[in-house]
Amino acid sequence: MIQATGAPGARILGVGDYRPAKVVTNEDLERVVETSDRWIRERTGISSRRVAGDETVADMATIAGGKALAAAGIDPATIDLVLVATCSNWDRLPGVAPQVAARLDIPLPGALDVNAACAGFCYALGQASDAIRTGSAHHVLVIGAEKLSQIVDWTDRSTCILFADGAGAVVVGPSDEPAIGPVVWGSDGGKDTMITCRADDPYLRMDGQGVFRWATTQLAPVARAACERAGYAPSELGAVVLHQANTRIIDAIVRVLGVSPDAVIARDIVDTGNTSAASIPMALARLVARSEITSGTPTLFLGFGSGLSYAAQVVLAP
Ligand code: ACO
Repeated sequence: MIQATGAPGARILGVGDYRPAKVVTNEDLERVVETSDRWIRERTGISSRRVAGDETVADMATIAGGKALAAAGIDPATIDLVLVATCSNWDRLPGVAPQVAARLDIPLPGALDVNAACAGFCYALGQASDAIRTGSAHHVLVIGAEKLSQIVDWTDRSTCILFADGAGAVVVGPSDEPAIGPVVWGSDGGKDTMITCRADDPYLRMDGQGVFRWATTQLAPVARAACERAGYAPSELGAVVLHQANTRIIDAIVRVLGVSPDAVIARDIVDTGNTSAASIPMALARLVARSEITSGTPTLFLGFGSGLSYAAQVVLAP
């Protein structure tokens, strides 16, 4: 028999984020492409977004990761696994995770990048929780970091209004009670032409209407399954942090789920834009920093995007 050495549960111990200083408003975009502030607000909910300057994906991930470590109050040396969810890093090699680990003085951890596009953070969080429960790791730094501005076609009004840059991170550690529910994940590779960034066209291309339809019709059951697996009814959730793709998608999923009107719904997208794998930890960091959710609040995460990939879990807030 193989020895099980893991903890009974895993929980988020601290969270941090990084938001580039440069703000790009809808009015700024009116000067670049044929669009309007009104159209962007009504169709997406976005009023402004952050765009990185010289910062790389690794730079942003390092700052967010450092803040999460500080918030968790643990020695970086206790981290033995670093996972970075990203789909926009320019360099193919080396991976972002080992670079971030070295910069944060985390000695020789397991380190890898996870690419499941906008679902990447939830995939990585599920892996972190499972690693702690099996004993493969004790403390895991999970980061979502993106510099989408470098793969956006700034002449394409259907995408350049949406995407943005930033990073969010959590430290996950052992706990006596499970505080990260089972992840419900999946993909539909048959629809993999909906969101692409390919060698022969290295810009982010998207069938916006197709993704919108998919997200608003197929993902509520995934969220409901994640609630069921964690032992919560959607009406018992205290907070909902969905991938920040479009406020209309967020509203539609929340409505179909039957979430309580008292639940906190993350709307970080309004002045952050869509930061793909970074959007969920960034939104969580903001809710925690503003004390909009308290420790232990049952919170639904749901990431979805290119692949088409999706992943959801219920966590107890840090
Ligand atoms: N400003 C003004 N008009 C615009 C703009 C713009 N920025 N962009 C498109 N339009 C026009 C279109 O050309 C179209 O005009 P037409 O009717 O004359 O042809 C009209 O507005 C309507 O376009 P739609 O594409 O139907 O607009 P829609 O309401 O679907 O909104 C949007 C587009 C915002 C992209 C929406 O479909 C959406 O949010 N989709 C989901 C995107 C998403 O969730 N992606 C997540 C994954 S990202 C990842 O994985 C990296």
